[in-house]
Amino acid sequence: MLKEEWAAKRALLESELERELNLENALDKTLAESMRYSLMAGGKRLRPVLLMEAAEAVGGRGEDYIHAACALEMIHTYSLIHDDLPAMDNDDYRRGKLTNHKVYGAGIATLAGDALLTLAFEVILRQKADSETLCRVIREISQAAGPDGMVGGQAIDMESEGKSITMDELRKMHMGKTGALFRAAIRSGAILAGAGETELNALTRYAEAFGLAFQITDDILDVIGDENEIGKPVGSDERNHKSTYVTLTSLENARQLAKDAVDEAVLALEPFGDKAWFLKELVEFLISRKK
Ligand code: IPE
Ligand code: IPE
Ligand code: MG
Ligand code: MG
Ligand code: MG
Repeated sequence: MLKEEWAAKRALLESELERELNLENALDKTLAESMRYSLMAGGKRLRPVLLMEAAEAVGGRGEDYIHAACALEMIHTYSLIHDDLPAMDNDDYRRGKLTNHKVYGAGIATLAGDALLTLAFEVILRQKADSETLCRVIREISQAAGPDGMVGGQAIDMESEGKSITMDELRKMHMGKTGALFRAAIRSGAILAGAGETELNALTRYAEAFGLAFQITDDILDVIGDENEIGKPVGSDERNHKSTYVTLTSLENARQLAKDAVDEAVLALEPFGDKAWFLKELVEFLISRKK
């Protein structure tokens, strides 16, 4: 059930992203190609799927919010292109293919990231919603992507290389670099579908726990994952002397912390009952994910 629903939502997203990337009319074909190269390289599409599923948990129709979902995936993909650059994590593989800069060079890769981020805000304006709601969603997403969200977390990540940081600092870094976009995805879907404050608060609690569980498993997979399955290098964190849940505690402890976060997320969904079945199964799946 989880896999089928996930695949259905993903298919919807793939075709809409395809429509958004108009190669024929591009001002610069190389730039357009490099944007497409990373955006259409696969990926789990978790953030857009979460946006749509959060809408469904509060009684909406996920597909009605496809434009907001596409925008979020563009921002996420930009963050990956920049994350892999030589000046950041310097990784050669992403989504099972050479990283963007390995194919197009660091200059075009940087611009492809910039372009995806900017395009996202044009795309979200296609989202049908009353203007107050849309403004609220754009604020959620821009704050989450910016200096107090994803980019801020990435800065802490960079500055923490080779240093020992506290668990509290690590948590803050994770909440920024990974948590913020998940939180914005879920809150945006809920807001677009007209969630009340109580529902929104419960889903926010779910989102924060989800983001934490997700990044802890990402850190674990960086140590014990299978490169062919995860589609990116294993051992990148160690090579870059990163602080992660595994280095700060242990593999076993990291697993336990991920489990605790999953329990917390499931608990937050209680008021929704069956309407949140997908969100529940998805977060439970995180523990055993291989990619
Ligand atoms: C990878 O995100 C970056 C992190 C936040 C850890 P995903 O694991 O969702 O990457 P894709 O989109 O499936 O490639
Ligand atoms: C980066 O975290 C998260 C973002 C791209 C914002 P990581 O550096 O751990 O992500 P991976 O492991 O390269 O996907
Ligand atoms: Mg990184
Ligand atoms: Mg990285
Ligand atoms: Mg990682």
